[in-house]
Amino acid sequence: MRVQPLVIGDLAVPIPVVQAGMGVQVAKSDLAAAVARAGAIGCISSVGLGTLEGSYAQYTEESAKHLAMEIRRARELAPKGVLAVNVMVALANYDEIVGVCVREKVDIIISGAGLPLSLPGLMNGSTVKLVPVVSSGRAMKVILKAWHRRYERLPDAVVIEGPLCGGHLGFTCAQLAAPETVPITGILADIRAELAPFEALYGRRVPLIGAESIVTADDAVKMIGLGFDGVQIGTRFICTEESGIARASKEMYVRARERDVILIASPMGMPVRVLRTPLTERVEKGEKIPFKCPFQCLRACQANTARFCIADAMVNNVFGNTDEAIFLTGPAIGRVNNIIPAEEFFEPFKGICA
Ligand SMILES: Cc1cc2nc3c(=O)[nH]c(=O)nc-3n(C[C@H](O)[C@H](O)[C@H](O)COP(=O)(O)O)c2cc1C
Repeated sequence: MRVQPLVIGDLAVPIPVVQAGMGVQVAKSDLAAAVARAGAIGCISSVGLGTLEGSYAQYTEESAKHLAMEIRRARELAPKGVLAVNVMVALANYDEIVGVCVREKVDIIISGAGLPLSLPGLMNGSTVKLVPVVSSGRAMKVILKAWHRRYERLPDAVVIEGPLCGGHLGFTCAQLAAPETVPITGILADIRAELAPFEALYGRRVPLIGAESIVTADDAVKMIGLGFDGVQIGTRFICTEESGIARASKEMYVRARERDVILIASPMGMPVRVLRTPLTERVEKGEKIPFKCPFQCLRACQANTARFCIADAMVNNVFGNTDEAIFLTGPAIGRVNNIIPAEEFFEPFKGICA
């Protein structure tokens, strides 16, 4: 099967792959630029950028300054590439981070981990493409209605995350215990049904990007064959030369098998899929890992009752302090056996992209 470019408004991306925004510091300018240079969409994660010292002093300013630096660097490294930034709705500094994306003129903002209901209102006349992330027809409906009523705006594309994705998940624990009850094909059909009247109203079709356990070009082609216009891939890109975490952490991911992947409750208020580590074992036993919270990075996090600080645990991943870290992942990590340059992932696409 030959695959078509992913067309989002006036952007035509030869390889219909979006590299997922992955925090903390997994997906920075090096990874996003390598992917964009290969002819797909590179994406910077906007969460937890900058240094710990800088963040302790001025969290919002530190994040904004370093996001701008990462965007500029990615542009320098991949001047012709298509660049996205992932902004989680759960972030306390959401409005400021979106403001940086607008000022720095990224091509696309991808926004999930909550419903990005206010996103079009933060655009200040910018033409950046807006791509919400959803996991159900119901979430899609709420976004479509709100964007239409408040802003007369239709999403430029939509990322649909299935229950077998990596990281935070927009599903209940019961659904995640029986993922076959919420197949991505069913979610796709529900979302298409919600989109149809709005697509008719605005006179354009919204491209749909499927995400769930894609590790190879073959997996991507299969997902596109289900009726998607493109795919979003996270877990495979953690184990690339360009991802921003320590070598020791990448090696831990490579050694992991699917049986090492578990679900825990995240301080973000959603289930999160991670590798089992000494830290998660302590958390699962009910222990509360003491921490100080100098900044409220997540809107919903209750620092006094949270079992652990997800920011601390993810920064430990960045530095390779593996015992104190959490490792967000998808079950697909069981099929990731090596650390490769991102470009290598795209080689098989050369023969199949139109
Ligand atoms: C290490 C890691 C970090 C992630 N961080 C984010 C994030 O900051 N924002 C977000 O919207 N999604 C995040 N996700 C979810 C991804 O964007 C993506 O949709 C998901 O990983 C796709 O599934 P896959 O990992 O099976 O390819 C993360 C996933 C992983 C594995």
